[in-house]
Amino acid sequence: MSCSCMLDRRLSIRQYGLLMQTDKKTPPSLETLTGLCKRRGFIFQSSEIYNGLNGFWDFGPLGTELKNNLRDAWWQDMVRNPPLGPDGEMLDIVGLDSAIIQNPLVWKASGHLGGFNDPMADCRESKARYRADHLMVYLPTSGEGTAYAFLEGEPAVAEKRIRKAKSDTANFSVVPFTDLPLDQIATVWGPDATKAGTLTEPRQFNLMFKTFIGAMSGEGEDNTAYLRPETAQGIFINYKNVVDTMRVKLPFGIAQVGKSFRNEVTPRNFIFRSREFEQMEMEWFCHPDEASKWYSFWVEARLQWWASLGVDMRNLRRRDHDEDELAHYSTACADVEYQYGFTAPGFGELEGIAHRGNFDLTQHQEASGVKLEYFNQETNERVLPHVIEPASGLTRGVLVLLNEAYTEEFVPKGDTGGDTLLAEPGSEAPEGYEKRIVLKFSPRLAPIKVAVFPLLKNREELVKKAKDIFAELRKTWPAFYDQAGAIGRRYRRQDEIGTPFCVTIDFDSLEDDTVTVRDRDSMRQYRIPVSELKSWLFEHINE
Ligand code: GLY
Repeated sequence: MSCSCMLDRRLSIRQYGLLMQTDKKTPPSLETLTGLCKRRGFIFQSSEIYNGLNGFWDFGPLGTELKNNLRDAWWQDMVRNPPLGPDGEMLDIVGLDSAIIQNPLVWKASGHLGGFNDPMADCRESKARYRADHLMVYLPTSGEGTAYAFLEGEPAVAEKRIRKAKSDTANFSVVPFTDLPLDQIATVWGPDATKAGTLTEPRQFNLMFKTFIGAMSGEGEDNTAYLRPETAQGIFINYKNVVDTMRVKLPFGIAQVGKSFRNEVTPRNFIFRSREFEQMEMEWFCHPDEASKWYSFWVEARLQWWASLGVDMRNLRRRDHDEDELAHYSTACADVEYQYGFTAPGFGELEGIAHRGNFDLTQHQEASGVKLEYFNQETNERVLPHVIEPASGLTRGVLVLLNEAYTEEFVPKGDTGGDTLLAEPGSEAPEGYEKRIVLKFSPRLAPIKVAVFPLLKNREELVKKAKDIFAELRKTWPAFYDQAGAIGRRYRRQDEIGTPFCVTIDFDSLEDDTVTVRDRDSMRQYRIPVSELKSWLFEHINE
């Protein structure tokens, strides 16, 4: 084998679309994304055959693979091989999998029973319920007359009503509903009402789902328990167990991935705000004097991690919370935000990095009576560690990967390779080109890594060889076998689910034991000996 042949066979990492994009893509609309997710088996509405259940989603076969791949990437890069610390040192992070239902005293101590609330307002007429802090109001600057409420980002109905009342939005100022004095609420026309004065005052609503443990037997017996609203508390209540068993030394981290539940007032935006979701959280325990250093470190490290998955840096940003936005447990917080299709040109939360100080350990120490101080044997010092918490939504991460990967391109007809053009969603293909929809997941995250096709389904020798190769590849990767339809159609089907490589077995394969490997992003084809196929794929999938 000649040297140039070797070079030709090895795709450079820069050929993967996500890493070489220069043009920023127009993000897909939620409608486009939900349509694709349903059509191609990524995400379904939960309980669909019973008309669904608001705020709940089911992951289909491909969505499950994608979510598991993101979870595994986080676990690998957070627990098994975390980034090097600010001084180049190796970090120590261990894993945990705690119960979803915990002693209710946990939630009392953590402050969730008392403080994990969202303000809500009801419409007495339409029975609609709103997150009061998501409602905005057009308030007349004259101080008199009707005010018009709308959900943040959806002012059209209110503006139409203002025009119908022969007025102009210039005569109004826009203020948050929660800033209105209570005696002005009667002047507000709610988004789904037919007149003003139907909205209630904002009331606090606790977001934890209640359940009951065991059989209820006695009057006045309280078996109430809660589904966890964050995985973090499972870590705090096991902090002592980990210190006592794992010989970890400060600073160290405990990480957990799992389901959390929040009874959102208004779940919305597909899987962005759902009532059941998954989190990937790590609590980093450190000496109080070093907490600021670690806070800065983790904010930057987390931003870089999302970029390392191929997320375009132009779609990511850091946003520091204002003091009045901070959760009850944190003294500082920065979000990694992403420009979702439904937030563009604005951004929405993907991950929060909170400086929780020693709030949680103090609370649990006091409530349980168990000492949670860390004893440093070298310095004879006892400290209650401070905690920095990078907390990502795994479910939201899936939405980001789908947003980021979704690409509409014009490709030269015939799938021959050549220059592709980035297409504006919905636009017509120029002469000689056709549109393709392709999910440009990095190979590490793609649900299916390789598809195998016999050129023709009615040639037994081709089918047999293809099935033998498929049987071998599926031992190592999620693989897919397809013999239906023209090869071009089969490529397109794999493009639309983000499969990075397709292997075709043709008549030459029977002669010389080689196959064609087609690369999803460049659409280039490579002729590879079957004996080298696994190592070739291994090299490119793990890049
Ligand atoms: N543990 C932080 C959060 O759940 O948002």
